[in-house]
Amino acid sequence: MYSKRKKKMRIPTILVVDDSKAILTMLKTFLEKEGYDVITTLTALDALPLIQMREIDLVIMDIKLPGLSGIDALTEIKNKDIKLPVIIMTAFGTTQTAIEAMKRGAYDYVTKPFKINELSNLVKKALEAGWLMRESVSYQGEKGEIPQEGVCIIGNSPLMQEIFKTVGKVAESSAAVLIRGQSGTGKELIARAVYQNSSRKDKPFLAVNCAAIPESLFEAELFGHEKGAFTGAINKRIGKFQQCDGGTIFLDEIGDMPLSTQTKILRVLQEHTFEPVGSEKTINVDVRVIASTNKELWKAIEKGEFREDLYYRLKVVTIFMPPLCQRKEDIPLLADYFIHKSNNTFSKNIKGVDRQLLSCLKEYHWPGNVRELENAIQTAVIMSKKGILGLDDFPLFNHPEQGSIKDDARQERDYADIFEDILKEMLKNSKLTGSGNLHREIMKGLEKNLIKLVLDKSRKSQSKTAKLLGISRNTLRTRMKSYNLFDT
Ligand SMILES: Nc1ncnc2c1ncn2[C@@H]1O[C@H](COP(=O)(O)OP(=O)(O)OP(=O)(O)O)[C@@H](O)[C@H]1O
Ligand SMILES: [Mg+2]
Repeated sequence: MYSKRKKKMRIPTILVVDDSKAILTMLKTFLEKEGYDVITTLTALDALPLIQMREIDLVIMDIKLPGLSGIDALTEIKNKDIKLPVIIMTAFGTTQTAIEAMKRGAYDYVTKPFKINELSNLVKKALEAGWLMRESVSYQGEKGEIPQEGVCIIGNSPLMQEIFKTVGKVAESSAAVLIRGQSGTGKELIARAVYQNSSRKDKPFLAVNCAAIPESLFEAELFGHEKGAFTGAINKRIGKFQQCDGGTIFLDEIGDMPLSTQTKILRVLQEHTFEPVGSEKTINVDVRVIASTNKELWKAIEKGEFREDLYYRLKVVTIFMPPLCQRKEDIPLLADYFIHKSNNTFSKNIKGVDRQLLSCLKEYHWPGNVRELENAIQTAVIMSKKGILGLDDFPLFNHPEQGSIKDDARQERDYADIFEDILKEMLKNSKLTGSGNLHREIMKGLEKNLIKLVLDKSRKSQSKTAKLLGISRNTLRTRMKSYNLFDT
């Protein structure tokens, strides 16, 4: 299934362009210490051919360069490769040009003299943003084959196959998409798959982690701000929506977005317009929104934390990522895939998992979903001294009592969520509210369905059903009669 060709994790290459030799040397030394490969040039004219010849992951470029200016070079770079992130360096007082650079697709800018830590954080973020756009996301082929490049979404289970079909259907349009699911189920992967299968695949893709932005900075981050719009707004800044014009924005964990920002998002979705913070100028944008959440948004609506109208606007196209325990048939393939990936990354040669481990992997509840499985396999591959992984490579299964306590608590929480959903639905559909019969009617509804389910599971054997339910056969028969279950 996998090719034998080993693919090592590539060290990112950064191209630094500045007409000052001193700055080039300083940045090269610093960035190499941080673990990157660094190429430097004194002019943009020397830099441009390198972008085509070498695999460059990030460009850090001064804006004031002899010959071809940084801003013109940026336009050329973006024409060649719109997804290559570029950080612009500007001198104090030339931020107007930096803003122009951002409008032309620069990832961000730093004003000289900058703190090296500030640049270091920006470099990490820019590399991540570029990688999210550039790394290809594909699906496992029908015969199980895994593409060599990029990441692959594994999923042979009917639930995942259905999701792949939905992605195919919704990708083309520009409709907003809401991806729901527990943490670690692959929401981000699916968001990237929607983007890469859409007609906007050659335009930018920007991910915004709504859980990581302080509330006070949220609007400014997404919609930009004027100089002096609030304390700390030293310069005017362009927001993510404007930066991403024509492309796709991924609002990760949208449930954590403040209400005031939600109002603005709704307007962008409906009218494609907004005003930056502190500005009266209306800006038009054409951005597709993909949102994700691991929360039940209707609960947030009830608490007054999420706008109902935004929820309905977003949920028209919803993709639900099932927890891993509901698609256990994918576990062997996922395990294989993660072994293959870890082998490549850590230069190991693990062939697979033994039978005992496989059945434990399939048995376990995986509260952290695919991410937990991936991490467990990666650690096992790194630590294992053998060719095949076994139970002793998984500390998780060597302390079963810990696992099961956590599982029980988790299961209880999951059940509580499920029951809440069911009961809400029953209440919505019932004319009972206020009738004084609520408890009896709901219990009857639940009992009827429970008996029906167990009967089906026991292939209609009444004695087995009664035994499983822990009631007498007579009681079972009386209940079956009152619920009309004899002919089903
Ligand atoms: N079907 C899959 N096939 C291969 N890898 C997967 C699959 N689903 C998830 N993964 C991997 O599991 C990890 C978690 O996935 P991802 O970040 O997309 O989850 P998430 O739902 O966004 O989680 P969170 O809510 O915690 O952000 C990633 O490393 C991803 O590559
Ligand atoms: Mg995520």
